[in-house]
Amino acid sequence: MSAAAKPLDGTEPSGPDASSKAPSRAGEAPPAVPTHIGIIMDGNGRWAAARGQPRVMGHRAGAEAVRRTIEAAARAGVGWLTLFAFSSENWHRPADEVRDLTGLMRMYLRSEVGALAKEGIRLRVIGERERFGPETVRAIAAAESATAAGTRLNLNVAVSYGGRGEIVAAAREVARRVAAGTLDANSLDEATFGRLLSTSGMPDPDLIIRTSGEQRISNFLLWQSAYAEFVFQDVLWPDYDQEHLTAAIAEFARRERRYGLRLA
Ligand code: FPP
Repeated sequence: MSAAAKPLDGTEPSGPDASSKAPSRAGEAPPAVPTHIGIIMDGNGRWAAARGQPRVMGHRAGAEAVRRTIEAAARAGVGWLTLFAFSSENWHRPADEVRDLTGLMRMYLRSEVGALAKEGIRLRVIGERERFGPETVRAIAAAESATAAGTRLNLNVAVSYGGRGEIVAAAREVARRVAAGTLDANSLDEATFGRLLSTSGMPDPDLIIRTSGEQRISNFLLWQSAYAEFVFQDVLWPDYDQEHLTAAIAEFARRERRYGLRLA
């Protein structure tokens, strides 16, 4: 039996409460492609080092791979794509690399927004965007509003994002609501908690891809990936292209998803 994600009959993804509904989906009909793919884009630095170039060149080439991958995902019929562009921990990198990465993201947002809107790609940023400067915050808001009508592919870019921090922020909100008397602690369930996360209203990822051969989750979508399939690909992110995405989707399709149940 193959992994189930996006039914071939064109029905909608399982929705915001996918994690709490997961067990009932075990053994569902075989999919065409995952509804939601998350990618940990790793290997920019090694790609640059292998060429004797500064790290920023790896990040620039990585931005080209972002462009190719968005296009490939849209063509494959993926509904949601979440790219891990800048983790909460990346703030601890040397200042010049943080500046290069931030500048690159800002440039990307400005230069790509027209093409994204034209292609029906809706961009959203998840993470602590306010930690970036006002120029970047403005570029993010402009890109989000210019692409808001897109329905072909939902693109999330995770910046200053960390799964643990996101869960702690949601827990803080729960505590606040309980203290204010607007939430009964005993009625808190996974669906309610999930709505307090930055991915509220989005389906959980079916497939998480990490490039560069490393096999770690690195604080990416910790809550949301509870039942995701993982595919680790031995390719440095700047070299990622449609063939790699196709191979990851094919590997996903060979997996059997059980959601903790026994199917036989
Ligand atoms: C990991 O490689 C990659 C990053 C920390 C940044 C990812 C950024 C991009 C792909 C480009 C900009 C993004 C957008 C959305 C335009 P690494 O630097 O940790 O590589 P290494 O492990 O080989 O050192």
